[in-house]
Amino acid sequence: MPMANNSINQIIVCGAGTMGSGIAQLAATAGFKVIQFDLSKEMLEKSGKSIELSLQKFLAKGKLNEEEFNKIVTNITYTTQLDTCKGDLVIEAIVEKKEAKIGLFNQLFALNGPDLIVATNTSSISIDAIASSISFPAQLVGLHFFNPAPLMKLVEIIKGKATNTMIVQQMVDLALLMQKTPVICKDAPGFIVNRVARPYYLEAMYMVQKGIITIEQADAVLEAAGFKMGPFKLMDLIGLDINYSVSSIVWEDLGKPERLKPSEIQKAQIDQGALGIKTKKGFYEYN
Ligand SMILES: NC(=O)c1ccc[n+]([C@@H]2O[C@H](COP(=O)([O-])OP(=O)(O)OC[C@H]3O[C@@H](n4cnc5c(N)ncnc54)[C@H](O)[C@@H]3O)[C@@H](O)[C@H]2O)c1
Repeated sequence: MPMANNSINQIIVCGAGTMGSGIAQLAATAGFKVIQFDLSKEMLEKSGKSIELSLQKFLAKGKLNEEEFNKIVTNITYTTQLDTCKGDLVIEAIVEKKEAKIGLFNQLFALNGPDLIVATNTSSISIDAIASSISFPAQLVGLHFFNPAPLMKLVEIIKGKATNTMIVQQMVDLALLMQKTPVICKDAPGFIVNRVARPYYLEAMYMVQKGIITIEQADAVLEAAGFKMGPFKLMDLIGLDINYSVSSIVWEDLGKPERLKPSEIQKAQIDQGALGIKTKKGFYEYN
């Protein structure tokens, strides 16, 4: 089994969407040099802007000073060129598709060699299933941040059958350095939070589909009951495409139980390109 790297200096964050942007910000704030890679130049530009905006808020609250702000901003470089992605650790937050993640990891291993640690932010894809098709399975670990990554404390760390135990410990240390709360999980469908939370979304959509409640009612009632966000507002924040993919993967991996069947009304929204806040339209509309 290859030995884990003891020192992580350069982190490559793959994907510059909702999660990749927040993760790059966290890594840079923890003092790492970060390369953010995405196929889309537009997404990289959007990520850069959203990181600066988020850091401005920390600055305004006195949680950062000017010097720290500048240091964090200069810690991150942005690229669409995979061949410039050389580093010690990859944190992957690209599309929720197994084949895309496998292809990316194998290209990055070819570029960086067998000591590269590859951490996936997948919400639902089995770590063992990815590991079975990558060049160095012991180097793969799940590192699951929550949305918005700069604010949410929990990080699920998923140890696959092949994952090097030292890498799991390195991810715990990394999460602590990022001031997060790491929890080591088994590689079970949906890990912990996404498994337990599935009915929160699915049952709410089913009740709307059946005309029992409205979207607004569902959100208002659940929030009044103490949940921080109602299910529809939360799905818009997550991204309907991501939420639907997670539901589909968990449903399939659990043997397609009727109670966890992905929602038709969510699929219809996705087919219309209404993906939530990121497209300014989901269950609600945004400016
Ligand atoms: N959205 C959430 O609330 C949330 C929470 C936790 C984990 N996740 C997981 O994080 C990952 C990313 O989710 P997201 O919401 O940030 O998605 P997103 O749709 O906001 O962004 C995905 C980004 O990946 C880029 N991309 C797609 N294929 C690529 C490739 N082959 N190489 C490089 N870049 C590529 C896209 O251009 C896009 O910018 C998924 O695995 C998802 O399950 C999402």
